Amino acid sequence: MTTVVEVHGLRYRYPDGTQALDGVEFCLHADESVALLGANGSGKTTFVLHLNGLLEGEGTIEICGKRLTRQNAAEARAKVGLVFQDSDEQLFLPTVLEDVAFGPSNQGLSHSEAIARAHATLEQVGMGSALQKAPYHLSSGEKRRVAIAGVLAMDPEILVLDEPTTFLDPPGQRDLVKLLRALPQAKILVTHDVSLARQLCTRAVFFERGKVAGEGPVDEIARRFNWTPA
Ligand SMILES: Nc1ncnc2c1ncn2[C@@H]1O[C@H](COP(=O)(O)OP(=O)(O)OP(=O)(O)O)[C@@H](O)[C@H]1O
Ligand SMILES: [Mg+2]
Repeated sequence: MTTVVEVHGLRYRYPDGTQALDGVEFCLHADESVALLGANGSGKTTFVLHLNGLLEGEGTIEICGKRLTRQNAAEARAKVGLVFQDSDEQLFLPTVLEDVAFGPSNQGLSHSEAIARAHATLEQVGMGSALQKAPYHLSSGEKRRVAIAGVLAMDPEILVLDEPTTFLDPPGQRDLVKLLRALPQAKILVTHDVSLARQLCTRAVFFERGKVAGEGPVDEIARRFNWTPA
């Protein structure tokens, strides 16, 4: 089976001295969906920010067989579609439609092709009626949907979603599960929601203090690390 993400010995220290990653070993196969579980502050977000070069630590990262470097980070960014934990960091253009069309247009699609793709993915996430709204006027759940549409519009080979269901209402969560299930890409899903992980992923990786403390079937990992809600 093809490995699309392979990480060895990844370490990262924030400028204030926090050792957020302390030797992460990780791999993701094509067609696979993996859940990243772990306590607040265990390093999940820091880890995923490395996969498309937004942060640069020590160790090695291979994306689709190619070692990630500062020079080819733009290429990795096109392959790894990352939905940020905080949508405000993702949305920056004056209208929803322009924002979602920005990525595909940056990838070289013509303006009309990019707009058509943005229309389609905004429909997919239930935001087809907010095309001309300003992203900063949207509700939190609406922002999250637009951020997801923006990433889908770039048709990445690997989808990384950091807490994608936060702020989504229950129908929105169900629709997202349905949508993600239908997408062929390999996926990394960062979540505290074991039931969501179970619905979308066959494997879970558990982060603890900047390292992978265990991995295996979602239920087994949830049991082993006592990862069930009150
Ligand atoms: N910009 C930053 N500067 C300094 N420390 C940071 C920064 N961002 C995160 N950290 C620290 O790095 C560690 C890992 O944080 P990270 O956001 O990766 O955790 P997480 O597993 O995603 O947590 P959560 O479940 O709360 O989203 C934490 O100790 C956090 O305080
Ligand atoms: Mg996080």
